[in-house]
Amino acid sequence: MNWSKHGIFAATFIFALLFAVLPSFAQETATHPWSDRTLSPDVRADLVLKEMTLDEKIDLIHGNGMPGWPEKKVRTNAYLGNGGAGFVLGVPRLGIPIIQMSDAAYGVRASGENGRYSTALPSNIASASSWDPQAACAYGTLIGRELRAQGFNMTLGGGTNLTRDPRNGRTFEYMGEDPILAGTLVGNRIKCEQAQHVIGDIKHYALNDQENGRNEVNVVISKRAMRESDLLAFQIGIEVGNPAAVMCSYNALNGEFACQNKYLLTEVLRKSWDYKGFVVSDWGGTHSTIKASAAGLDNEEPLDLYYGEAFKAAVESGKISMAELDTHVRRILRSEFLSGIIDYPVQKSVVDVEGGFEIARKMAEHSMVLLRNENKILPLDRAKLNSIAIIGPNADTGMISGGGSAQVDPPGRPNAGWQAHVWFPTSPLKTIRAMAPGVDVQFDSGANLSDAARAAKSADVAIVFVHQWTSEGMDLTSLSLPDNQDALIDQVASANPHTIVVLETGTAVTMPWLGKTAAVLEAWYAGSKGADAVGNILFGAVNPSAKLPMTFPRNENDLPHPKLVVPAAGDLGLAAIMRTGEAKPTFEVTYDEGLEVGYKWYDAEKKPVLFPFGFGLSYTTYAYSNLKVSSGKEVSVTFTVKNTGNRAGEETTEIYAALPAAAKEPPKRLVGFQKVHLNAGESTDVSVNLDPRFLSIYDEAKDTWELVPGTYSILVGGASENLPLGSKIDLH
Ligand code: BGC
Repeated sequence: MNWSKHGIFAATFIFALLFAVLPSFAQETATHPWSDRTLSPDVRADLVLKEMTLDEKIDLIHGNGMPGWPEKKVRTNAYLGNGGAGFVLGVPRLGIPIIQMSDAAYGVRASGENGRYSTALPSNIASASSWDPQAACAYGTLIGRELRAQGFNMTLGGGTNLTRDPRNGRTFEYMGEDPILAGTLVGNRIKCEQAQHVIGDIKHYALNDQENGRNEVNVVISKRAMRESDLLAFQIGIEVGNPAAVMCSYNALNGEFACQNKYLLTEVLRKSWDYKGFVVSDWGGTHSTIKASAAGLDNEEPLDLYYGEAFKAAVESGKISMAELDTHVRRILRSEFLSGIIDYPVQKSVVDVEGGFEIARKMAEHSMVLLRNENKILPLDRAKLNSIAIIGPNADTGMISGGGSAQVDPPGRPNAGWQAHVWFPTSPLKTIRAMAPGVDVQFDSGANLSDAARAAKSADVAIVFVHQWTSEGMDLTSLSLPDNQDALIDQVASANPHTIVVLETGTAVTMPWLGKTAAVLEAWYAGSKGADAVGNILFGAVNPSAKLPMTFPRNENDLPHPKLVVPAAGDLGLAAIMRTGEAKPTFEVTYDEGLEVGYKWYDAEKKPVLFPFGFGLSYTTYAYSNLKVSSGKEVSVTFTVKNTGNRAGEETTEIYAALPAAAKEPPKRLVGFQKVHLNAGESTDVSVNLDPRFLSIYDEAKDTWELVPGTYSILVGGASENLPLGSKIDLH
């Protein structure tokens, strides 16, 4: 036998092997009764379900591992994954595809590991600062598109946990402290993401509002408080976005872990909100089979510890009925039809890099909040400047991003790794040099305070870029800028009163140096094109319009819980909660501030703040007038807003309500908002109908929303502490 004969033999053998193996994984393209797109997702799901074997059903309710996730089992099907956080087997003979999941908070994760590319959008807290549902939609569209280009058909984005404590390391992944703002924006993001034919997801349901001990904490809170705060954000997000999946969270709530919590998963989600999609556990958040299934968990991720063989055995022994298993499977199939992943199979393609840059830049321009602008130092007038000092660690090369499972990998670098501090190659120095030709732009890293002060002193203007890195899996111990950066700003601002501070942060920071500075721009984690957006704002090509979706407190002592409650040392993780064989939380966090989340807390406690919720400056000014409030089926609010300055701008108008005293609510709550574009001198009438629920309270005894009869004050203006218009209305 010569070599070529060997070759032919080997090739024949390999082909035969492939044919023996492949058909079982190749997706069936034949037409089935459920291929009829005119049928509803429910009907189509039922038609598929009738054809499925028990093993095929079990396949749908669990994951198959995640690269890097420790497990003893060797998974022979690991090659079917797409390098994402997990995958769920399909049913090839019935044309049901594999669900390929990827984290995608502000862009698609794990590009480095997989040799791909993803756009990093500004972080989610930044996107919330736009107060713009259309921008949220564009955000979702881009992520949905890039997921599909990379071979994924399910996103794990949609973070909606309210900012109860700004030290939460994942604050940058969420949409701020107000349920109506957060819910509306996340809903619009999900709606548009899912329109790209990916399974949308909203997470982490619910009350996973701190990272410390997140796997073992029991969160204690009253029913009323959660329905009016954190759960309301999810409720609105689900109504607006109709996500095909809800991810239950790690923590326990009022004594029971979220992924086996009947109140959360059945009473509220199914019965009260009529949610029809499926519930997926956070990674490692499943702690039982029978209990979790009965409570309403549909899919375990990323493993099959409870929803694999153990689930099958429970069905075979009659401990879980086939009907209960069918309910889980039906929900998953329904979501696959609803999102279109069956009708529009994923086709990999090349990510539109340029398109992504354009969107990332625009989003960043609309999400950076101008907090201070003394004597109108901004926008900078190039013609009047001879020199600029750019100061700050890495301000010559990049801008920081948020870590953990949200991390997007920057181009040209290897996989970022869990909790690496990742700087995106968007260089403030280069951008500002390019935008200010003829101006002498010098750089100092800020490593030596005297050098930095000297650089600042010798320039007309000093621009200091400072950062605060945060991530999943950690909380900040303080809201101060780390690494001596407060001292850096202090020194620079003492040397040059024309000091502009650009904050690259994932949450609020304290600002002991504020009074010395000329301007402060909150750029958040600004994404792939952050530096361009900063430059365009500083030099006035863009008029800033963003507003804070969370309060910046004066210091940690003003928080509802000045000291974070953390688990006992050494008492960490899943092992600790499973000590008795049954999942039990190891410590408690009591949210006794209840309804008083964010600005509602500072209002109620009469604590002055550094920068209030809803605050943000513009290069123009606006005047509010002519408020009319009338009640018909809904309360309708109309008013006029005028651009009284000399350049075009966008103003987010904010509507708050103060409920009658009998409601026992914090002083006021956001009940509506609308963003308007106005040319210089232009005015427009804004009209908003208020959702009756937003004026109601949650009555625990009756387990429903109730309007408290009495006199309501409607307040309108441009920030929670700047509400020039007010009117009263009696509601019954
Ligand atoms: C996070 C989720 C994430 C999942 C998969 C968990 O640790 O809490 O937000 O989607 O991992 O990476």
